[in-house]
Amino acid sequence: MDVRSLDGRAGDVDHGSIGSGYPSYRRPDHRIAQAIADALGGARTVLNVGAGSGSYESAAAAVTAVEPSQSMRSQRAANLPGAVNAVAERLPFGDGRFDGAMTLFSVHQWSDLEAGLREMRRVTQGPVVVLTCDPESVRDFWLYEYAPEVLDTEARRYPSIEKMAACLGGVTSVQAVPIPWDCTDGFNEAYYGRPEMLLDPAARQACSAWSFIDDGVRERFTTRLRGDLDSGAWDERFGHLRSQAFHEGSLVILRATPQDKEEHHHGRT
Ligand SMILES: C[S@@+](CC[C@H](N)C(=O)[O-])C[C@H]1O[C@@H](n2cnc3c(N)ncnc32)[C@H](O)[C@@H]1O
Repeated sequence: MDVRSLDGRAGDVDHGSIGSGYPSYRRPDHRIAQAIADALGGARTVLNVGAGSGSYESAAAAVTAVEPSQSMRSQRAANLPGAVNAVAERLPFGDGRFDGAMTLFSVHQWSDLEAGLREMRRVTQGPVVVLTCDPESVRDFWLYEYAPEVLDTEARRYPSIEKMAACLGGVTSVQAVPIPWDCTDGFNEAYYGRPEMLLDPAARQACSAWSFIDDGVRERFTTRLRGDLDSGAWDERFGHLRSQAFHEGSLVILRATPQDKEEHHHGRT
């Protein structure tokens, strides 16, 4: 098992190179925050694994953050408690220590998914909540026509939802998370109706899949998208997305509760 906990590098990404732009382009979106809070179902003590700079950590809960990258830990807001330097695969907490646990946009970077999910289950009494993208649907997005390499990379990296559900066991549910048009958390699909944003290299850089792509692909992407925006070809095909309030894409919440705890959740199934 290759479990790293080093400065800069964590998982399969060099967060040192993703850089300091992450917190400004990946600001938590309040509608996605609500979906996460609903899934946590009122848990008071919450573990956040792969916490990054602290997005979606709510003041309503006592959050313990785990984050292996020094670069990400150093970008945490001053009002948040420091993150524990550890990895999902080896959580330094006792069994059942937390009411709930979440991991957001992180599982695809872990070196041992099953070990990480087993650990989350072990230290959590109630719901384990995974916000991630379904690899089955990441390619169903117009970006695939401009930068297939990026979405192929994402489809390869994101673990299968079924596999994660099986790993977590108990009672599981999967729910699509509608992406709002003005989503402040800038993952690729967040720009479904604002294609010009993806011409900004810093916005792309805040989505880790772009760091796997070589310069030639990036240049080809920029030239083609800019050309289609200038000529009106993009709008002819996808212009309706500019006024579509929400987009149901690949973003999902997987929620798993131990069988005997399910009665404590009063939200959706
Ligand atoms: C895309 S960032 C998401 C950060 C944050 N959860 C958010 O939503 O903004 C993925 C995070 O997972 C962390 N990570 C990578 N491998 C990990 C591992 N094995 N255990 C825990 N965290 C890991 C990375 O360091 C990075 O901060």
